Amino acid sequence: MTGPEFRRLLEEMGFHIGGISETILTTMNPDGSFNAAPMGVHRRSHEILELRPFKSSSTYTNLLHNPKACINVTDDPGLFFMTAFKGKTVEDLLEPAIDKEMRLISASAHIFVDASRSSDISEIRACFTCYVTDIKAPAMTPSSFSRGRAEAIEAIIHATRIEVFSKEGRLEDVERLIKRFAECKDVVERVSAPDSVETRVVGELEKMITVWRGKA
Ligand SMILES: Cc1cc2nc3c(=O)[nH]c(=O)nc-3n(C[C@H](O)[C@H](O)[C@H](O)COP(=O)(O)O)c2cc1C
Repeated sequence: MTGPEFRRLLEEMGFHIGGISETILTTMNPDGSFNAAPMGVHRRSHEILELRPFKSSSTYTNLLHNPKACINVTDDPGLFFMTAFKGKTVEDLLEPAIDKEMRLISASAHIFVDASRSSDISEIRACFTCYVTDIKAPAMTPSSFSRGRAEAIEAIIHATRIEVFSKEGRLEDVERLIKRFAECKDVVERVSAPDSVETRVVGELEKMITVWRGKA
């Protein structure tokens, strides 16, 4: 596959220059197993992408040891939930499976990258520059935009910070994010089916937030 082909596919998948797309990144753990975690991907230029993991994440440690990674493209709130909160499950959802090429099997497309170059953004966050080495994107069926799915993924992002801030005792930040979580939940409940993945994900998040809040 050539550079122009990579550029065409990145555009088609919604990775626009200057923007951030939410994805699930797979990296290799020190023991050779794979780790999957939601990560924002910044498209800096035609074929250069950037990842900004917190240094507390396994993704950060893994990329320092092995820069080969796979960006998995999906809008499935269930996959975002289970890779953000490992070990937690949502009723009827299967654990995400990763193949030997580091691909999250149920994702719609896969972008293989080399993230060898890293720098610090701050004391707590790093930046990895990624070069695209391959893309596997089967012909995609157009999908309609779902506010419910989008808001569920937004709710998961808030929840990851609520967990961290609760542990750090940052109560004002916790309450601010809980309000934002409640707005996301409200949209999901208005537009998504009661048995949809996104409804079940926000229900599970709400239970987890109650526990974290109790311990904060
Ligand atoms: C949609 C979404 C995007 C996220 N983007 C980032 C990110 O860019 N950097 C980061 O450090 N954490 C991000 N997070 C939070 C991490 O996914 C979360 O902290 C995760 O538990 C880290 O897993 P790990 O320790 O296996 O790397 C994001 C979460 C979600 C739901």
